[in-house]
Amino acid sequence: MKKTADIFNNIVNQRRSYREFEKGFKLPEGVVKRSLERAIKSPNSSNMQLWEFYRIRSKEALQEVGKICLSQSGAVSASEIVVFVARPDLWRKRIDAHLEHIGDSELKVVKNKLLNSSIHDYYKNVMPRFYNSSFPVIRDVFKWFYLLFKRRQGYFMSDVYSRHIPIVAQKSTALAAQTFMLSITAEGYESLPMEGLDAKRLKKFLGLPKKSEINMAIAVGKGVPEGLRGERFRIPYEKVVFEAR
Ligand SMILES: Cc1cc2nc3c(=O)[nH]c(=O)nc-3n(C[C@H](O)[C@H](O)[C@H](O)COP(=O)(O)O)c2cc1C
Repeated sequence: MKKTADIFNNIVNQRRSYREFEKGFKLPEGVVKRSLERAIKSPNSSNMQLWEFYRIRSKEALQEVGKICLSQSGAVSASEIVVFVARPDLWRKRIDAHLEHIGDSELKVVKNKLLNSSIHDYYKNVMPRFYNSSFPVIRDVFKWFYLLFKRRQGYFMSDVYSRHIPIVAQKSTALAAQTFMLSITAEGYESLPMEGLDAKRLKKFLGLPKKSEINMAIAVGKGVPEGLRGERFRIPYEKVVFEAR
């Protein structure tokens, strides 16, 4: 095995969910910041980056969010909690950022003009058709007829209805969460992903709008041995991996 694969293998094997951390431990400056910088490099749908990350660091905020996370031992002993939020509602802002970025690169890279114009079309025309969720019922009816026509002609994306929009943002945000946790392990610390929380109260605490969704909260700290609850258990490879016909 190559050396980088060994390193990656160690990180994957070392990452565990710790249900308890050393209380009052101060994480070295930069551990969470570097991990979030890595997290935002995660693959994400259409590079729309419909995510946000909220750092909970002060004693008071940690106490409040600890309660919101149902006073789980991992939450109340964490040095920091990072809340991963899916933001499908930010689609217009992200499109604007892409159009601005393409505008810039068009000036710089003349050779790529054709490529840039098709990317431009994708963000200006295709993305709004998918992400615009005003009057969802009417839009979904139009989409249904459009799909009926398009799918008769050949292969076409099928999961494009308004109910799919938050799922798309959630998937990408979860990938960022995984990059973050692996990075925390690589930095020599431990983490705990949590969906056992009061999402409504957490959104209110963070001042988030209605259409945003909590993806998960991740507690970070110096794990204590008691925080590890048993050996890692997984359904074996042969039972979950299949050769497609
Ligand atoms: C989305 C998500 C939510 C989770 N929520 C909780 C939680 O609220 N409380 C908890 O103790 N563990 C939670 N876990 C941790 C899982 O129980 C844990 O990942 C699983 O048991 C496998 O163990 P491992 O992470 O040590 O490999 C969560 C994990 C994920 C991915």
